Amino acid sequence: MSIVRVHDKEFEPYLSEELIKSKIREIAESINQDYAGKMPLFVAILNGSFMFASDLFKAISIEAEICFIKLASYKGTKSSGHVITAIGLDTDLIGRHVVIIEDIVDTGKTLSEFLPQLEHMQPASLRIAALLHKPEATVYPISVDYLGFAVPNKFLLGYGLDYDGLGRNIPSIYKLIE
Ligand code: IMP
Ligand code: MG
Repeated sequence: MSIVRVHDKEFEPYLSEELIKSKIREIAESINQDYAGKMPLFVAILNGSFMFASDLFKAISIEAEICFIKLASYKGTKSSGHVITAIGLDTDLIGRHVVIIEDIVDTGKTLSEFLPQLEHMQPASLRIAALLHKPEATVYPISVDYLGFAVPNKFLLGYGLDYDGLGRNIPSIYKLIE
């Protein structure tokens, strides 16, 4: 592994593929225990979480479902301000045990706006699985129930995470060289 260049920036290796895979197996084991017999519904948030969702779901050995959504933000009315809506959420959440799959929680803004909407859909329970969390970047506190790695407040790339559209296909995680 060495330095990679994407657009105008350089990135150095940060979390290896092996480390990511073994952490995901640990998360999956916890979920397999916690949700046995509950038929959880995983809701993966695209685009960034597609690789994490895939590897995590492969390690889930209990009966479970998965769906994929995109979050779109638009300017609402003056009073509501900025609004986030889910595109592609076609599964009924009522009474379901829902686990959100997110790539990274940064400021927490996305999830803090989206979670109340999901709660409104009356799931039996609602938890978050995130591969990465930047605690130092928190503006809107979010409690991550299943966390891969707490990471410093640096820009990361790879394993689904992009820099201006590129780098999602890198199988491990790189950190911006500042
Ligand atoms: P939040 O709403 O500030 O928590 O931002 C979450 C979203 O910002 C993530 O789902 C990512 O799409 C993006 N993001 C945050 N940090 C990074 C990063 O270091 N690299 C790439 N994307 C990031
Ligand atoms: Mg994302």
